Amino acid sequence: MSAGWSWWVIVLIVFNLGVTFFLFVWAPRAKIPTLPDGTTGHVWAHGALREGMHRLPGWWILISLAMYVAAAVYLVLYPGFGNTSGLLDWTSHRELAQATAANDAKLDPVLQRLTAMSAEQAARDPQAQALAMRLFIDNCTACHGRNGFGNPLLGAPNMTDADWLYGGSADEISTSIRSGRSGVMPAWNALGADTVKNLVQYVLSLSGQAHDVGMATAGEAVFKTTCIACHGPEGKGNPALGAPNLTDDVWLYGGTPAAIETSIDQGRQGHMPAWSPRLSDADIHLLTAYVLHLSNRADQTAR
Ligand code: HEC
Ligand code: HEC
Repeated sequence: MSAGWSWWVIVLIVFNLGVTFFLFVWAPRAKIPTLPDGTTGHVWAHGALREGMHRLPGWWILISLAMYVAAAVYLVLYPGFGNTSGLLDWTSHRELAQATAANDAKLDPVLQRLTAMSAEQAARDPQAQALAMRLFIDNCTACHGRNGFGNPLLGAPNMTDADWLYGGSADEISTSIRSGRSGVMPAWNALGADTVKNLVQYVLSLSGQAHDVGMATAGEAVFKTTCIACHGPEGKGNPALGAPNLTDDVWLYGGTPAAIETSIDQGRQGHMPAWSPRLSDADIHLLTAYVLHLSNRADQTAR
């Protein structure tokens, strides 16, 4: 704070405390003329209400006095009176730095132990999982859901199955988290509504769902020219592009005919943000272990 502002603050404090303290001292002594019946003579509601007089109660005066004492003690001990730093030399920055340092001192040995493990080992370590769960809840649940089941509105995949867009090894998961991922499925409405509907039937047939055979056959011909570049000749997907496998019954955006039609007609652009450098390497390591743990869970169906 510049000297000018400091003085401005000091003047405001002195003025405000001074004026209220003057009122505090003066008001109880002030003579207010009263009538013989003890009222001030002010009347309302055609004389039905008359204004009486009472001295301030002692407890009120004591509490008010205590406030002035507390304010003075505070301004002597803590920063507040302009630029003065106060006898305790307290700053919020120092308090935060001390608390952070104390926390780091507790956390560092734990993190050292956990980052020395492989992600697979950390996936089985209860302490690693407890820490990683916090990180997941703070950073990932908005899209992947609290339990990691994903969100078809955002195309955020389920983390608790063994199905992967970009691969499920520790390295691949860690890359997904560190650098983010952006799958791009183009919109195919230019092919015309009939062709899109045929493609929907073919995609339904790929995942073994009920479909119209004639339309699916027509759709297959288009699929083989237009879609295999990304989804592969058998529709099994391509982890290099994040193009999903269309032959299983796992869906990013839903496997109903309507959802598949929207995917093909409008295209889809799922975006997974990059977490480095927002999260430290140790955090990303723990989250990798957490995702590994989620996807290998025994109780995958329990919600
Ligand atoms: C803003 C929403 C959002 C947030 C927040 C988010 N994700 Fe994602 N994540 C996605 C989307 C969408 C995809 C799929 C990307 C694609 O389709 O290309 C994805 C993909 C992934 C994948 C790849 C899955 C696969 O099948 O290959 C992993 C692993 C992952 N996220 C983990 C995380 C972790 C861990 C966090 C928290 C640090 C996180 N995500 C936070 C939206 C999000
Ligand atoms: C340029 C590569 C590319 C081409 C070509 C492509 N796709 Fe995709 N497709 C993707 C990607 C990547 C995704 C995942 C989008 C995301 O992550 O948000 C996807 C998603 C989908 C989905 C949604 C799957 C789900 O799980 O919800 C369907 C259905 C689909 N594609 C069908 C098709 C069809 C049919 C064609 C041909 C007309 C086609 N795709 C052509 C890359 C492609």
